Amino acid sequence: MAEKLALKGGKRTVPPDFIKPWPHVTEADIKAVTEVLTTAKINQQQNIQASGLAKEWAEYMGVKYCIPVNSGTAALHLCVAGLGIGPGDEVIVPAFTFWASAAAVLHHNAIPVFVDIDPKTYCIDPNLIEEKITERTKAIMPVHIHGMPADMDPIIEIAKKHNLYVIEDVAQAHGARYKGRLCGSMGDAAGYSTQMSKTLSSGCQGGLFTTNDEQVYKRAALLQYFGEMVVPGREREEQQYNAYGLGWMYRGDMFSQAFVRSQLKRLDINNALRVRNCNYLTEHLSKIKGIETPYVPIECYHVYYNYVVGFNPKELGLDISARTLREKVQEALGAEGVPTGQWQRMPVPAQEIFQAKVGYGKGCPWKCHGSNVEYRKEDYPRSVEFIDSHCYVFDVNPPNDLELMKLYVEAFQKVMDNLDQIL
Ligand SMILES: Cc1ncc(COP(=O)(O)O)c(C=O)c1O
Repeated sequence: MAEKLALKGGKRTVPPDFIKPWPHVTEADIKAVTEVLTTAKINQQQNIQASGLAKEWAEYMGVKYCIPVNSGTAALHLCVAGLGIGPGDEVIVPAFTFWASAAAVLHHNAIPVFVDIDPKTYCIDPNLIEEKITERTKAIMPVHIHGMPADMDPIIEIAKKHNLYVIEDVAQAHGARYKGRLCGSMGDAAGYSTQMSKTLSSGCQGGLFTTNDEQVYKRAALLQYFGEMVVPGREREEQQYNAYGLGWMYRGDMFSQAFVRSQLKRLDINNALRVRNCNYLTEHLSKIKGIETPYVPIECYHVYYNYVVGFNPKELGLDISARTLREKVQEALGAEGVPTGQWQRMPVPAQEIFQAKVGYGKGCPWKCHGSNVEYRKEDYPRSVEFIDSHCYVFDVNPPNDLELMKLYVEAFQKVMDNLDQIL
């Protein structure tokens, strides 16, 4: 039905201020953070909140050890360091991810080697991993991207066959499951981000490290505290002021940890509400010609950190690229009040740091370790295609509900019915 698009002066579909922000802050969250401040002994709170969060997250995940840290990148770096991966070792990482996954490897002077994605799930394609394994390879780092679990069984099988570790990047997939198992509980170690936008949010910055291996835990615990051996809560009495190796200051802060602990109580319910919103979008958007909705393997519980939408101009008989269609539709959706985003602009190995191999400077870690790993943009065609043809619909988080999702669908329908106004 012909209708004037908001971009052309028509009425916008989603009213201003209709969308509620994430994270959703409740009275319980406010109480949890306020209690940290109003307690009689604030100096004990750092240990109380950190150990409380460590215990609760380990319990939730069904793993033995957890260390709360100050970012997801720090947590992933602890995975790399804790597993004993060293300078010049190679770690396999998907070409489509936030580059922090690869940065955590570089932070330890190790070398990321990239593998293209499965275009259906946008996670690392296990079929492409083995050809990238060399005698230097020490680990595979699947990333559960946008809330979608990576295909873990074949990844773990390859790792076993080649004697490699598996590090799970769960920055975007708290509570997601693969064949019933929680993402983060399947590999040798896992890193999670609790940065503001994440499905388990601190409202600011933070991260979590987990493992089932006592040695890995002990090494990570040492490294997250300057390389010193410290019993949490007994720093004053027992700190030796003796570093046993190079470490970092990765301690998290008590306010964000108190907030995460409170949010954790609602993680499953918030995930379920987000899944309901996204299932509604899929049910309705999949009927619109030219729009592709997420494919979710039957064995996966996808928690939709982002709702991903693809564009298919061929289905509409249009002789334009998916990228052009996406950009035009995104602009029109923005005017209708539907927030969409692009996120990654290129595969990670195409970024300047890998093209110029700057790293630590002087060409390290590559030059320092005689590495001949190459980063050719053209080696990751699926990541390029995925990035070109997809965008993300934001604010599918609760407390936004089906009322907003209905407006999103209306806006998509309106724009796609009136493409002649924008093409
Ligand atoms: C896939 C992925 N890995 C790692 C990180 C790093 O997390 P943080 O920003 O908490 O360091 C992010 C954060 O956005 C991410 O999206």
